[in-house]
Amino acid sequence: MPVITNIEDLRVLAQRRVPRMFYDYADSGAWTEQTYRANTTDFEKIRLRQRVAVDMEGRSLASKMVGQDVAMPVALAPTGLTGMQHADGEILAARAAAAFGVPFTLSTMSICSIEDVAANTSAPFWFQLYVLRDRGFIERLIARAKAAKCSALVLTLDLQILGQRHKDLKNGLSAPPKLTLGNIVNMMTKPGWCMGMLGTRRRQFGNIVGHVTGVDDMSSLSSWTASQFDPRLSWDDVKWIKDLWGGKLILKGILDEEDAVKAVASGADALIVSNHGGRQLDGALSSIAKLAPIVDAVGDRIEVHFDGGIRSGQDVLKALSLGAKGTYIGRAFLYGLGAMGEAGVTKALEIIRKELDVTMAFCGKNRAVAGQDRANERALGRDNLILSDEAKREFGLAK
Ligand code: GLV
Repeated sequence: MPVITNIEDLRVLAQRRVPRMFYDYADSGAWTEQTYRANTTDFEKIRLRQRVAVDMEGRSLASKMVGQDVAMPVALAPTGLTGMQHADGEILAARAAAAFGVPFTLSTMSICSIEDVAANTSAPFWFQLYVLRDRGFIERLIARAKAAKCSALVLTLDLQILGQRHKDLKNGLSAPPKLTLGNIVNMMTKPGWCMGMLGTRRRQFGNIVGHVTGVDDMSSLSSWTASQFDPRLSWDDVKWIKDLWGGKLILKGILDEEDAVKAVASGADALIVSNHGGRQLDGALSSIAKLAPIVDAVGDRIEVHFDGGIRSGQDVLKALSLGAKGTYIGRAFLYGLGAMGEAGVTKALEIIRKELDVTMAFCGKNRAVAGQDRANERALGRDNLILSDEAKREFGLAK
């Protein structure tokens, strides 16, 4: 077993252990993947300001996201087909997150159902909603999330139409995988994954199969999405969902200041600056390049969260310093899950915690929140960051 010291180690291990179809699904972006790549490479344009001889005792990563205590402001993002990276993946990831003290977000497109995750975990989790044409199903899904005591609803606004991901089309992505010769040969090289899948009954889209009239086979994700997702989704629907849900609401997929202002007007509790991990509009700016302009556009009228490209605690620190109140990791935890199941998700969280904590100390800060310093609390802020003039313009900090 190799020594795991960073998220890249987990990625390499996951690539070895997860069938190609599912590894590729997690680790790809739309079309040319330029936005997917920019999400990570843009972080490198932000440098950190080192400070010395500052008291580093008593550092704390604890914070709150939508009013809920978090051990560090890093939630697990909703990711589709998580239970195909590793058998029972959603339950394992939810358990790892709960033990760590950070939120887990269950995707509508999960393998384990809402009820199944609730029955097999002890802490409340968050639920992510896609809006389908069948509004009766959406009403029932929201009722199911309430019954499962989910403590926040994450409404995704940037995937009414699925971005084209070449690898998924070429691999014939489906859940469960079709038993073609190519798939069988590939799966034979992943014995641990196969044993896990043989030992579980959770191999289909648990929230959907058997719950949407006429849907008993949704094995082709791209054609199913095209026929079932509602391309007419509007801000009126956001209001309808907010009223139906009645709890904490987080809007995911905001990448433009004007949409951010609409998110404020919707009365949602938080928005997530996100380009869906570069999986939707290829050619869009990286998430981190849009963070500061959106924070500046909404001020403190709504909580701003961030996802896209986080592969280290340093990336988390950069996003917090630019004004995010919380962040999400998607691929970083999926690599851990594919590599080592629940222990791998815990490992991913530990790696990020350590990197965040140490980097904070090097920057002379002792709180993982952005804002005003208080008493002995030195908060994160844009003063932690060093950007070239060009990067300042690119990241909306040129004023
Ligand atoms: C679903 O959320 C996906 O990006 O595939």
